[in-house]
Amino acid sequence: MNSKTSLSLVLSIAGTFLVACGGGAPESSEPSGAQGPSAPAPSAAAIAAAEVKFNGLCASCHGTTGLGDGAILTPKPRNYTDLAWQASVTDEELAAIIVGGGLSVGKSALMPPSPDLADQPEVVAALIAKIRSFGK
Ligand code: HEC
Repeated sequence: MNSKTSLSLVLSIAGTFLVACGGGAPESSEPSGAQGPSAPAPSAAAIAAAEVKFNGLCASCHGTTGLGDGAILTPKPRNYTDLAWQASVTDEELAAIIVGGGLSVGKSALMPPSPDLADQPEVVAALIAKIRSFGK
């Protein structure tokens, strides 16, 4: 082996090492939806869990189409298709009422808390994405 061959061998090994340890592609190629750059797209599992939660709980009051017509209550469950309301609330505010319930943010106690979601931010993000989708 001459010195030129051994140099190129070293370089190719180093190259392989760099590729193997490099940053590479992001793990998830999920569509990012309307999330901001700081909120990673929820995983498929989180989206599925959010669907179960929404259909099993939220829809009973907010309606399967988000119109707030699932239950007749005073105050009315929020109509998610109200674009003025959509524009008036931040994702952070939505997360706060979803996890803490209405009382925790000075709204009606009829809007129940979901403390089980406190340690599941991805599921909360997927619920927020679903709520946002009713306003599009
Ligand atoms: C028992 C009925 C009920 C259930 C179940 C329910 N909500 Fe609500 N929700 C309400 C009512 C009533 C309001 C209106 C509260 C108010 O305006 O004071 C509300 C308000 C909201 C709001 C609007 C907050 C704002 O800024 O005006 C969001 C977002 C929301 N609910 C999300 C959810 C989600 C997500 C779920 C399921 C995890 C859920 N709700 C389950 C009754 C319900």
